[in-house]
Amino acid sequence: MEFRGFEKFCEGRPIGEMAGITARICGICPISHILASAKTGDDVLTVEIPPTAEKLRRMMNLGQFTQSHALSFFHLSSPDFLLGWDSDPAARNVFGLIAKDPELARAGIRLRQFGQEVIELLGGKKIHPAWAVPGGVREPLSKDAHKHILDRLPEARATAVLALNMFKKMLDGTKEEGENFGKFRSLFIGLVSREGALWEHYDGVLRVVDSDGNILVDNLDPRRYSEIIGEVVEPYSYLKSPYYKPMGYPQGMYRVGPLARLNVCTRIGTPLADAELAEYRQRVGSGGIVTSSFMYHYARLVEIMAALERIGMLLHEPDILSTRVRSGGSINKLEGVGVSEAPRGTLFHHYHVDENGLIKKVNLIVATGNNNIAMNRTVKQIAQHYITNVKDGVIPEGLLNRVEGGIRCYDPCLSCSTHAYGQMPMQVSVLDAAGNVLAQRTRD
Ligand code: NI
Ligand code: MG
Repeated sequence: MEFRGFEKFCEGRPIGEMAGITARICGICPISHILASAKTGDDVLTVEIPPTAEKLRRMMNLGQFTQSHALSFFHLSSPDFLLGWDSDPAARNVFGLIAKDPELARAGIRLRQFGQEVIELLGGKKIHPAWAVPGGVREPLSKDAHKHILDRLPEARATAVLALNMFKKMLDGTKEEGENFGKFRSLFIGLVSREGALWEHYDGVLRVVDSDGNILVDNLDPRRYSEIIGEVVEPYSYLKSPYYKPMGYPQGMYRVGPLARLNVCTRIGTPLADAELAEYRQRVGSGGIVTSSFMYHYARLVEIMAALERIGMLLHEPDILSTRVRSGGSINKLEGVGVSEAPRGTLFHHYHVDENGLIKKVNLIVATGNNNIAMNRTVKQIAQHYITNVKDGVIPEGLLNRVEGGIRCYDPCLSCSTHAYGQMPMQVSVLDAAGNVLAQRTRD
């Protein structure tokens, strides 16, 4: 995101174009940028959007959570779980999964498709619908679309149950991953609802908790994000390293996304997901905060259930088919902030505009960036645990995959937002205390 210069080349554009432009930051989570941008626009126009527009924006975000989480779990991560970390890389993918467990693979592919359908039925297309705009949304929900989503919900919920049961069965066999794939103390940041601190994905207030469950910041208006979050530029990365300001850098490491959202909320607010959340906290958090990044996978599945239940609730709202979905307004403030939860974590858009609504300055903190310090810590932990003996100078392929697997826990946007094609190039080097290379393994 930083490398491609979005914060710079948006300068001079009309604020109404920002949702469409920033959506191009990512092909997996464009909806997050569209929503955060539209919310920033609401702030600049100083309008309250119609209640139905908010419900529809929420529904689209929940559709995106479903499709993005399904992609992460079924297509990208379950091959490691079901085929093994050391299995042949040529088959360790969704096609290998189809060969091994066609029923699960098919269910996962259909679940992702369901999430994409919700987006498409609302926005008119799957990937970059310029549908949410400052003041609301462009189009209401049609009766046919409403029926289609409602009809497909039970199957989607059944798939969420299937995946949750599969993951829980695996827990005993993945103790080593649970202990070493990013298990450390950190802060957790996310949005919670204004009342009751329920699980939140679109609006609400910021909360910060530590690994003991102490609440460090509560009820913070997201517009004040820069009071608690700073960004550092490291010479070795294009990606900035955001940190929690009161603790300084890098001690102020925090995590966002599914793991953090389940750590900051009191409960989810829907019955099936709340039952899963209670079991999750009991199983992997000793009743409290979950600190292993390996459990991002488990948290993601709980969130799929939460998203599907909330979509069902929204469909039953009496005004969900209302055609009053957009408020009018003009430039009433020269600065606006819009914050929402993307599938992979909290997303911040912050614009300064001139009297005509042309952008003067942009700050974006994208979800993946928030996890930068923690992702690096995870790579280090995995390397230190698994590289214990390199006699013969051989680093096994499975090590490369575990390092990647550590990154996959966070489900970063990297591959699509940097337009990587094919395999991720990677090099693992083992050095002795004097800096001599003892072993090296490279994948181009
Ligand atoms: Ni993304
Ligand atoms: Mg920034």
